[in-house]
Amino acid sequence: MSDQKNPGFSHEKIETHSFLMVVLIVLVIAFGGLVEIVPLFFQSSTTQPLEGIKPLPALELAGRDIYVREGCYNCHSQMIRPFRSETLRYGHYSVAGEFVYDHPFQWGSKRTGPDLHRVGGKYSDDWHHIHLVNPRDLVPESNMPAYPWLEKDLVDADALPNHLKALRVVGVPYTDQEISTAADDVRGKTELQALTAYLQGLGRALK
Ligand code: HEC
Repeated sequence: MSDQKNPGFSHEKIETHSFLMVVLIVLVIAFGGLVEIVPLFFQSSTTQPLEGIKPLPALELAGRDIYVREGCYNCHSQMIRPFRSETLRYGHYSVAGEFVYDHPFQWGSKRTGPDLHRVGGKYSDDWHHIHLVNPRDLVPESNMPAYPWLEKDLVDADALPNHLKALRVVGVPYTDQEISTAADDVRGKTELQALTAYLQGLGRALK
């Protein structure tokens, strides 16, 4: 006969059956995760665009792709935290409603260089052109890489309409008109112009 004192569903049963224990742990964690994550999908402050936030114009969207391609996010965040030291330096802290059309987010997790979320309007277009072609021309001690090819390479205009369409599928409200003119909006522009346009638009809705 078993010498178990409590033959019902005792805690000992869980502790002595590793498989049962694993299953129960997974269930508890999954439930806890759902309780924390699911409400975020329905919270309007995280899913509603901030007033004044519009989908990126075609040229800025092309610039954003270059930002991603060149890996700028490896050294730059786009996420100003709500601390005094950050808001004094960069401006208003970032809020969720500013990122609703950002797929994927460029929040980043490393700051070798400064945060760029509110860099729009901080410098002139010419400043960005010189800085991107060779940062050392403006900031002698800079360790940011130079991107001289951006000045010569043209934006791939024909790829843009499909890009806008794809973003529309995930909820970015591009109009048919914007999609049909996207290619012509960027044709003949250099990657440098596109990337600069993107940088100049960053964070301006909440200055
Ligand atoms: C290896 C890290 C590194 C990478 C990659 C990098 N940067 Fe930088 N960036 C820096 C550093 C460091 C600074 C500060 C010194 C300076 O201004 O050059 C900086 C400064 C800047 C500034 C000026 C910010 C300000 O507020 O003064 C801009 C704009 C910028 N980077 C854009 C870019 C873009 C766009 C890319 C991608 C094409 C990029 N960076 C890639 C390190 C990097």
